[in-house]
Amino acid sequence: MADDNKNIKYDVVHKLVKNFLMGNLKYELSKDEVNELSLDNQEIFMQLTIHSSLYKKYPLKFEFCRLFFKKLIKYLEQYSEVHDDMYEFICSLMKIKNEENKFSYRHYIIANNLIDIITIKETNNMVINGTTGMKTWEAAIMLSDWILCNKELFYNRRILELGSGVGFTGITVGKFCMPKSITLTDCHSDVLDLLVENIAINFSDLQKTATSQYHSFKNDQKVIDVTKLDWHCPEDINDNYYPDIVIGADIVYDPSILLPLCNVLNKFFNRNPQLQVYIASIIRNEETFNQFLKVLDNINVAVDKVIPTECVFLNWNQEMKRCILKIRKNV
Ligand SMILES: C[S@@+](CC[C@H](N)C(=O)[O-])C[C@H]1O[C@@H](n2cnc3c(N)ncnc32)[C@H](O)[C@@H]1O
Repeated sequence: MADDNKNIKYDVVHKLVKNFLMGNLKYELSKDEVNELSLDNQEIFMQLTIHSSLYKKYPLKFEFCRLFFKKLIKYLEQYSEVHDDMYEFICSLMKIKNEENKFSYRHYIIANNLIDIITIKETNNMVINGTTGMKTWEAAIMLSDWILCNKELFYNRRILELGSGVGFTGITVGKFCMPKSITLTDCHSDVLDLLVENIAINFSDLQKTATSQYHSFKNDQKVIDVTKLDWHCPEDINDNYYPDIVIGADIVYDPSILLPLCNVLNKFFNRNPQLQVYIASIIRNEETFNQFLKVLDNINVAVDKVIPTECVFLNWNQEMKRCILKIRKNV
């Protein structure tokens, strides 16, 4: 991808590549932009997308690709020529009848450059196999953006992620913040399997070891672990483990887990009173969120609310009510 990147001459190609890899259909092109899409530039676009090694290895959902190319061809047909390969590609997709696999890949581009990409295998479904953990939620992208703006907090620290889901936030920390170690956790076995797959995709250079409960990816500089941690079963927590920082995205949504979640945090505060906790939420239900604040009141912690105001390294939906809670032990 890095070499391919040198060939991008025009912003519009970059814009299209970015929207395609990130699975975004809501792009618009002006007449001037379409005019920049000469056959040569269309060729560059296809080299960077459907003919790239990234796409070949980790394809996007076929239905998305069909709609993306249909829209692009419609733009091109108005003011310009259409590269034959585009028609060929869309025809090849039409032959694929039912997309059986509920999972596909999304490529999250960090800081608008096509070099730093996180690839996540995930679904579009909000709930699948009885869990919400099979897709990347908006709070995960918002928290990752905030983390990238505050990398120094995570440098050389032991990080624990609760309710990691497909792993976007933990992978961001592991890839860009140089933590001492990061442990990604969840309660659902299918989510944990997918999480392990996503770590393997994004850290293909790390050595993997596994036991029945624990997957570890390591080299001299990085340690990334994946393990089960169900907030209802605090005994899942290894007695010798003392994180410096706990993170979690979109984990405050179900009233029945607020107390168990708080108990897990308390357990880690008792082990390390210097612990820092960052929990990101998209506030869909104010009552549940306030209930969590009340539960936190009982464990003698100070809670600060941060409301991120702008997208810096990643795009997330700024229209949603949102918050990052910074939680510390009261001294
Ligand atoms: C809405 S998803 C968020 C996933 C991910 N953090 C993100 O933002 O993309 C909530 C996650 O919390 C996990 N979860 C729910 N209850 C849990 C529990 N009792 N213990 C551990 N994880 C739990 C789910 O499996 C799911 O992965």
